[in-house]
Amino acid sequence: MRTLLFMAIVLGVIGIVQDCSGSSSASMMKIENPPTKPDGSLSFLVVGDWGRNGEYNQSVVAQQMGRIGEELDIDMVISTGDNFYENGLNCTSDEKFVHSFSDIYTADSLNKQWYSVLGNHDYRGDVLVQLSPALRLIDPRWFCMRSFIVDADIVQIFFVDTTPFENKYWTETDHHYDWRGVAPREQYISNLLKDLDFALKTATPAAWKIVVGHHTIRSVSDHGDTIELVDQLLPILKSNDVDLYVNGHDHCLEHISSNDSRVQFLTSGGGSKAWRGVYKPTSEKLRFFYDGQGFMSVQLSQNTLKLAFYDISGDVLHDWNLTKELIIL
Ligand SMILES: *[C@@H]1O[C@H](CO)[C@@H](O)[C@H](O)[C@H]1NC(C)=O
Ligand SMILES: *[C@@H]1O[C@H](CO)[C@@H](O)[C@H](O)[C@H]1NC(C)=O
Ligand SMILES: *[C@@H]1O[C@H](CO)[C@@H](O)[C@H](O)[C@H]1NC(C)=O
Ligand SMILES: *[C@@H]1O[C@H](CO)[C@@H](O)[C@H](O)[C@H]1NC(C)=O
Repeated sequence: MRTLLFMAIVLGVIGIVQDCSGSSSASMMKIENPPTKPDGSLSFLVVGDWGRNGEYNQSVVAQQMGRIGEELDIDMVISTGDNFYENGLNCTSDEKFVHSFSDIYTADSLNKQWYSVLGNHDYRGDVLVQLSPALRLIDPRWFCMRSFIVDADIVQIFFVDTTPFENKYWTETDHHYDWRGVAPREQYISNLLKDLDFALKTATPAAWKIVVGHHTIRSVSDHGDTIELVDQLLPILKSNDVDLYVNGHDHCLEHISSNDSRVQFLTSGGGSKAWRGVYKPTSEKLRFFYDGQGFMSVQLSQNTLKLAFYDISGDVLHDWNLTKELIIL
């Protein structure tokens, strides 16, 4: 019942958003009352870079997500983008949606709301398809917007559209990117950063703050650090005491700590094809790196945050706990 009510609210919200998808405004829609437990705690899984018709261990990762999802009694799933390879979706009846999503993540525990951002590969298809409410008629778990906020009281999760930041996509000639709703780029990025900064500054002080984007800020794998995000996004995360920056893009699992702020950089991009065999040191503190497939879990209460990374056997490879002083208002 709770879920149905929530779906109805979200469907209403998407209806509004779709009308604005042609504009270059980056204003961040807030989703209130996402599914949480009666005691206010929240747990979720994070997977990225996955849609390959079950291939490259995608189905095996999905099975283990189902098992761990049940164990942790998760409330939602987050996708860090590159949802459908190689070129996103090209129409709402594109079979990739069913073959790479609905038919793969079939466990009961994964029958929850999925919140997704777009990755660079998603921009290579018809970018509006993944944002379209029509997909929700095929699978109501699906929810994807460019930039939005999930407000669950004890945590606010800020989803950020990072693809437009990367200079090279705007000049690359071997791939086509669908920039409808983004260009002119400078204005889109500056609006987005302004909106994010404002939303972070006005967030409940006691709430955990998690920012999700497709691209890395810090990474030791193939793509390495994303310099545009280090320059433009990272200062906003630092000055607003963001707890976690969660991304995909590099097809691996990573935990890197910021030298001079609270921010933990977490890569969960092991949803399917992995094993790039690349390691390049980054300038901040590497705590964990796994070059293979897997996913991440986050369990939150008002003052504790537990995260863990799992491989395709569902074994915990690395875990980490954070605590927060309780702010009595
Ligand atoms: C699937 O996972 C196993 C175990 O990590 C690995 O040995 C194998 O290479 C993976 N397959 C692919 C296609 O990545
Ligand atoms: C979408 O792409 C698939 C292949 O991925 C192709 O079979 C289909 O014809 C395409 N549809 C449209 C509308 O372009
Ligand atoms: C982080 O600290 C290390 C060791 O002190 C230093 O080499 C590195 O340059 C620092 N990185 C940044 C981004 O400040
Ligand atoms: C995190 O806390 C859990 C208990 O809630 C404990 O089992 C685990 O060892 C802790 N992990 C770390 C890295 O401290």
